[in-house]
Parts: sequence; structure tokens; C-alpha cells
Amino acid sequence: THAARLPAKLLAWYDRHRRTLPWRAMPGKRTPPYLVWLSEIMLQQTTVATVGDYFHRFVKRWPTVEALAAAPLDDILSAWAGLGYYARARNLHACARTVIERHGGQFPDSEADLLALPGIGRYTAAAIRAIAFDQPASAVDGNVERVIARLYAIETPLPDAKAEIHARAAELVPQQRAGDYAQAMMDLGATVCTPRSPSCVICPLMDGCEARRRGIAEELPRRAPK
Ligand code: ADE
Repeated sequence: THAARLPAKLLAWYDRHRRTLPWRAMPGKRTPPYLVWLSEIMLQQTTVATVGDYFHRFVKRWPTVEALAAAPLDDILSAWAGLGYYARARNLHACARTVIERHGGQFPDSEADLLALPGIGRYTAAAIRAIAFDQPASAVDGNVERVIARLYAIETPLPDAKAEIHARAAELVPQQRAGDYAQAMMDLGATVCTPRSPSCVICPLMDGCEARRRGIAEELPRRAPK
């Protein structure tokens, strides 16, 4: 399969197998930036299964970025209890306040403005641009890293492979349906292109996958010994 066809195959798969998740809008709709941001921060070191309940509780209690910015930090920290990595909760509050002060309560959509916000790094900025604004930004988390390393049979161990993985991932991002594409890559990594025993026979990208062709999918990505 030519690389140019891969995004269309992935999107067709997503239309059939898309997971229903609390922060995901109905097909064809976009999730508001506030909800994309909140879910992506929660998902940083926490599983999809754990984040669900926390996400619902936060959105019920603080439905807007204005509400979250106005909340006492202690309330946010206690609502965060159990998610761990409390720096994320402190940054959450700081980011909400900055969005109010600097951007009038509207999340920015440029990479530079997003990266300037507390707690937002390269991955989160790209995820917000793609999912909330449908911009063709390349959001590469650990799952996507694995999918790309296998698709191109990148044998360089991590972390050295990161530059090549990011370059390949960015080339693939389609101009249309960038948000669906980003989440389709995440779902593929989470459910099909898994770390161990990947389900290559049901993978929508099977024909284009170089690691599968060589029989080394499960070995990738390699990691430099510690
Ligand atoms: N992991 C991080 N962000 C995600 C998303 N939007 N959907 C599924 N898994 C994710």
C-alpha cells in the first residue's frame, strides 16, 4: 500500500471501530477545546479507564474554563486526588487562569500560544490543535510512537528514534479530518498495534506495515539498554 492511502484506510477503520469515550464528540462533531485540554492532561500518566469518572466529575463541577479558573486551587487538588502527579493539577489551575487573562477565556489554536501555557507541551498542543480545531497537527504519544516505528520498521532504539518517528508521523497527517485521524492513531495503538502480541491480521494498515512484512512488529520499537 502506498503511504498516501494509509490515512484513508485508518479513517475508514475509525468509522467502524471508534471507541466511545467521555471526551469524544458524536461522529462529525468537535469536542470543545476546554474538554480536549482537560482530558489530554488527565490522560498523560493515567489510563483511559481511570480518567472516565474523573473527567465526568470535573466537567459537572467546572463546566467551563472560567469556572475552573475561579475555583480555589485546594478544591481542584482534592478533586484530583487519586490521579497522581499533582503538578498536573496545579498546572491545570494555572493554565485555566492564563487562558482567561491572556486569551479572554478562549483557548488559542496556534502552536506557539498553546506551548506558552502552563502544563502544555508538544504532544498536548498538537492534540488540542488536531482534536479541538481540526488542524493537521501531529500528536505523537507512546501509542502513536509504536505504530509509526512499526509501520516504517524503524530499528533505531528509543529515545534516539524519536526524531525520525516524529518526522514520519508528521508526513502522514491528512489535511482533512485531522482530529479523527489523531484519535484513530491513538485507538489503533491502544487496541490493535499493542506492545505485546499486536493483532496484525485485523490491522487496517497491515498491507503498508514494513515491520509486519519483515515479521518484527512485536520487537519494535526497540529501546536503548539502561
Ligand atoms: N490518549 C490520549 N488522548 C486520547 C484520546 N483523545 N483518545 C484516546 N486515547 C487517548
